[in-house]
Amino acid sequence: MENKEYNEFIDKFKPKLTTDDCYTPQPVYDVVLNYVKEKCDIEGLEVLRPFYPGGDYENFNYPENCVVIDNPPFSMISKIIRFYNERKIKYFLFAPHLTLFSSNQDYNAVVTDSLFEYENGAKVKTSFLSNLFGDKKIIGCPELYSRLKKINEEKKANLPCYQYPHEVITVSKIASIVSKGIYIEIDKKDVAFCRWLDHQKEHNKSIFGSGFLLSKKAAAEKAAAEKAAAEKNKEKNIIYWELSEREKDIINKL
Ligand SMILES: C[S@@+](CC[C@H](N)C(=O)[O-])C[C@H]1O[C@@H](n2cnc3c(N)ncnc32)[C@H](O)[C@@H]1O
Repeated sequence: MENKEYNEFIDKFKPKLTTDDCYTPQPVYDVVLNYVKEKCDIEGLEVLRPFYPGGDYENFNYPENCVVIDNPPFSMISKIIRFYNERKIKYFLFAPHLTLFSSNQDYNAVVTDSLFEYENGAKVKTSFLSNLFGDKKIIGCPELYSRLKKINEEKKANLPCYQYPHEVITVSKIASIVSKGIYIEIDKKDVAFCRWLDHQKEHNKSIFGSGFLLSKKAAAEKAAAEKAAAEKNKEKNIIYWELSEREKDIINKL
């Protein structure tokens, strides 16, 4: 098999990269769309988003007057750019920042290095590739960078922070205790695995990454450290979850 053919063959068996399945938060998309509207003449063009689960961008119906403004699967970006360039289809595409210049093709690289947290929680450094900017090869754009940064900051500020009772331990709580230089160990007999608290289930919420209910003894051992860490937690938007009677019962039996 030729090298190219072989690579295409083994590509089929590669697991999907997480960045391929990141969904663009609407405010991010709106900023990008408005930026393109301001900077490029796309008046009267139909804006298309051919990248979605089960989509087939190669067999998508591209009308004459269209522009693709979308977040494609990053693992296929060079193939996609080649496809659009060959067919002279206009595009402004989200692209992986670190490998933005990797493909030696005709494009305008719009560099913003924006760190997006996508809907699936993946954090990806993103810039853009386009063919709407004529002879420009590279555009380092602080304007788009700061508009996108503002969204990320607003999103961060509005994220609720879950605060759990001492009888619940999560890996991030341990990490915050450890990061403050405090040693902690918990015995197997003192824990019960827990994906969500009963009160969370009512709200369709869960413990991120799961956690453990702790015996009273283990909870007491870590309470001081946890309290110290919580006091340092300055976030305003804290939601305190309480234990249910059922969970208290489990703990009492530990
Ligand atoms: C990074 S996600 C972005 C999804 C959406 N465009 C957005 O902005 O939220 C890329 C999407 O492209 C889809 N995809 C994968 N291969 C594709 C293909 N050949 N044609 C069209 N879409 C594809 C994936 O399933 C995934 O939903």
